[in-house]
Amino acid sequence: MDSRDVAVHWEGNAETWTRTTRAGHDVYRDALNTPAFLAMLPPVEGLKGLDVGCGEGANTRSIAGRGARMTGIDIAPTFIRHAREAEDEAPLGIDYREADALALPFADASFDFVTAFMSLMDMPEQDRALTEMFRVLRPGGFLQFSILHPCFVPPKRRNVRGEDGEVRAVEVADYFKEVDGQVETWMFSDVPDEERERLDPFSVPRFHRTLSNWVAMICAAGFLIQRFGEPRASDETARKHPLVADTQVAPIFLHIRAGKPAATV
Ligand SMILES: C[S@@+](CC[C@H](N)C(=O)[O-])C[C@H]1O[C@@H](n2cnc3c(N)ncnc32)[C@H](O)[C@@H]1O
Repeated sequence: MDSRDVAVHWEGNAETWTRTTRAGHDVYRDALNTPAFLAMLPPVEGLKGLDVGCGEGANTRSIAGRGARMTGIDIAPTFIRHAREAEDEAPLGIDYREADALALPFADASFDFVTAFMSLMDMPEQDRALTEMFRVLRPGGFLQFSILHPCFVPPKRRNVRGEDGEVRAVEVADYFKEVDGQVETWMFSDVPDEERERLDPFSVPRFHRTLSNWVAMICAAGFLIQRFGEPRASDETARKHPLVADTQVAPIFLHIRAGKPAATV
């Protein structure tokens, strides 16, 4: 499956994804994943940043709110339309463009930093995407991205619950099966049943890679890995949002920060 095929799936998801996430149904993102990502992000005030696979722009807006001058790109035109509408309503100076991460429409060394929230495991040829991100970064710049944790969310994962319904363990399989565009269909579990019945589930092509292959691709692109993050719900967050309590058993997300060396030889 290539980028154009992936774009068809995401274009089909974009309306419902925008509506349900803006209604607060992506609880993992809002309660855990994005706050942890932002806590790990170095100061970006005054810096020029690119958000790759920005969707409708919620996370791009969060970074712009920290004082960065942001550009957001996504392959699905409906996401870009929604992102631009949000920008028109409450301007943050964000430039949104429809583009493919595998061929970024920017000159070399255009950005101080690049982010990619939960988009790299959804695209083919991640080695090419990482090389493109490296190219558009200035020397000394950094990339920070989040993905489904390859070790704990490979193509097969199941929460194992005790009699009280609490998650006690996580069962994983097919870790070494590097799928290329295996389509997963699902809906945010927080969406109420009566609304769920009216919605088509998301159709998400998955491109799972092992952790060692992620590291190999990041290094082959020229990056130096600086930091990993594995967000875990605090007791308070787990009480407030029981859905995310399973991240206290094993992580669902992996955050990686990597730098472009200041002087490349
Ligand atoms: C799980 S969504 C995440 C959206 C957003 N970053 C967020 O966190 O809300 C994955 C996004 O990656 C985008 N995407 C997939 N392949 C892409 C590609 N080759 N180039 C640019 N965007 C891509 C999809 O259109 C989708 O918006």
